[in-house]
Amino acid sequence: MASLEGQTALVTGGSSGIGEAIAKAMAAAGAGVVVNYASSQEEARRVVEEITARGGRAISVQADVSREEQVLAMFQAAHEEFGALDILVSNAGVQKDAAFTEMTLDQWNLVLGINLTGAFLCAREAVKEFLRRGVVPERSRAAGKIIFTSSVHEVIPWAGHANYTVSKAGLSMLMKTLAQEVAPHRIRVNSIAPGAIKTDINRSEWQSREAAAEVLKFIPYERWGEPEDIGKVAAWLASDEADYITGATIFVDGGMLLYPGFRTRS
Ligand code: BGC
Repeated sequence: MASLEGQTALVTGGSSGIGEAIAKAMAAAGAGVVVNYASSQEEARRVVEEITARGGRAISVQADVSREEQVLAMFQAAHEEFGALDILVSNAGVQKDAAFTEMTLDQWNLVLGINLTGAFLCAREAVKEFLRRGVVPERSRAAGKIIFTSSVHEVIPWAGHANYTVSKAGLSMLMKTLAQEVAPHRIRVNSIAPGAIKTDINRSEWQSREAAAEVLKFIPYERWGEPEDIGKVAAWLASDEADYITGATIFVDGGMLLYPGFRTRS
């Protein structure tokens, strides 16, 4: 398994779903983990307890990533606890679906605020910290690593989800532009773009037999993803095993991007 021994990772939206799996995978690889949550304090505490019960190090820190002052306070808290930050996983994300003409400005702003502005704010603070410290060869070949949780919907349009798809498409360019900007400082910036992973965000789909089967038609590999499918990739991508990867989006989607309808096209 890729080692993150001696490193610290901050995972936003770490109290459930993909964020929880990433936090646990990072901890299992040896990293101390800051489990960020917005409102699910109990859940975040449970994740921290599960990590520490397995001999890992973790704390939970509350912050709404769309609020600048809360993001600054979260980085301060992380610094006080662990002294250094090596990995940011900007994962916090929400969906507020509506037909285009029904979409309210609040729904638009909420999703862009958390999914995109939140990613910008957290990445900015992480980069500042990485630049201040530079490379510490005993810990990693890179001065820092940023991973954004994107989505297949950074490229697949999705009717009724304009705010969400736009936020993920924006993340794609944020990731690439930032990767280009900070590469000379040995900071790696990448995205993981999950497909249909069983989390709270799509619970209504995978818990209904018919809806779950409907979604399977879009997945050539013919299984829903589990949060752990993403956690393992994130731990590897943050490690020196992936030291030459920057500016990349790794799609972890069971083939959702492969135009599944064409498999049976004549
Ligand atoms: C969405 C899920 C959806 C999946 C595949 C994700 O980004 O949050 O609701 O099931 O993409 O379409």
